[in-house]
Amino acid sequence: MIRARIIGCGACLPSNIVTNDDLAKTVDTSDEWIRERTGITQRHIALPGEKTSDLALGAARAALADAGIDAGELDMVIVATTTPDESFPATATVVQARLGMTRGAAFDVQAVCSGFIYGLSVADSLIRTGAARTILLIGAETMSRLLDWTDRTTCVLFGDGAGAVVLQAHAGHGDNADQGVLNTRLFSDGRLHDMLYADGGVSSTQSAGKLRMQGKEVFKHAVTNIAAAIVASAEASHIAVSDVDWFVPHQANQRILDGTARKLGIDPAKVVSTVAQHGNTSAASVPLALVTAVKDGRIKRGDLVLMEAMGGGFTWGAALVRW
Ligand code: ACO
Repeated sequence: MIRARIIGCGACLPSNIVTNDDLAKTVDTSDEWIRERTGITQRHIALPGEKTSDLALGAARAALADAGIDAGELDMVIVATTTPDESFPATATVVQARLGMTRGAAFDVQAVCSGFIYGLSVADSLIRTGAARTILLIGAETMSRLLDWTDRTTCVLFGDGAGAVVLQAHAGHGDNADQGVLNTRLFSDGRLHDMLYADGGVSSTQSAGKLRMQGKEVFKHAVTNIAAAIVASAEASHIAVSDVDWFVPHQANQRILDGTARKLGIDPAKVVSTVAQHGNTSAASVPLALVTAVKDGRIKRGDLVLMEAMGGGFTWGAALVRW
């Protein structure tokens, strides 16, 4: 059985760091409020002119170097993003060109904060069916461009960044001991649109709009949906949630991470959290957290890693990977 194995990963964050105290100078908020309600202490914000493709390219180069392969070996580039450089073409094609890739295919996936999990599911399917052998998957965002910086209920939550993985076909036995993606589970419910959306778009307002959110409602759905996705992914591979070595969640809010862990009886020490340093970087958040835990030595070859996310739509999902 063909498995999509992650052979390298890398990250890229804008150099510009904005602390809670920095934000308190421009909106009516405080370091104490943000820390208590979200766990966030700082976020990286792209400088003027710094685009999603710049961050995506940085993460892509780091992941390729980590995998020890050249861009010429890639069959596809997939970028999960809600903040593309332009309405078209796909940001993935910009990355493809800047990597010097002259073959293969490149396209974007749009599932907001769940984008990386959706992209992983697509990449895994393409590899397992033999349509591609090696795929670069990037989650990259400049959420700062989509924020209403006068709205303290949203602007304090988000940040910019990119994380990438290189997936490659690998012969497995078809059991849980195989290295690579063991399963992915995707969900959405479009009826929940009004809880989290951008109030603009090409065909409606001819502008990108700004992010709008009913925070309390999102919070309630997040814990329920994320817990359900974790259980669905564990059940799909016939394992207990307690068998998972590392949980790599979407980094929206420390209270959502804690609430989900409490609901499922997960040891908090197994939950990778980078929300304090990065804030919510949407599709970049899962790969940024993944790279953090791989580089600091927590996630090791052979570990069972469960990634999950939820975002606008709502979309949500989970992916179980043998590292
Ligand atoms: N600074 C100071 N006060 C604030 C701020 C702020 N930045 N934002 C809101 N407040 C005020 C409110 O106006 C309100 O004041 P009031 O009582 O006078 O009306 C008070 O703080 C409490 O506001 P609530 O909205 O009730 O605060 P809550 O405890 O729900 O926390 C939060 C808000 C942090 C947004 C929380 O609901 C949350 O995290 N929700 C999830 C949202 C999320 O993560 N979205 C990301 C995208 S989806 C995803 O990734 C899962």
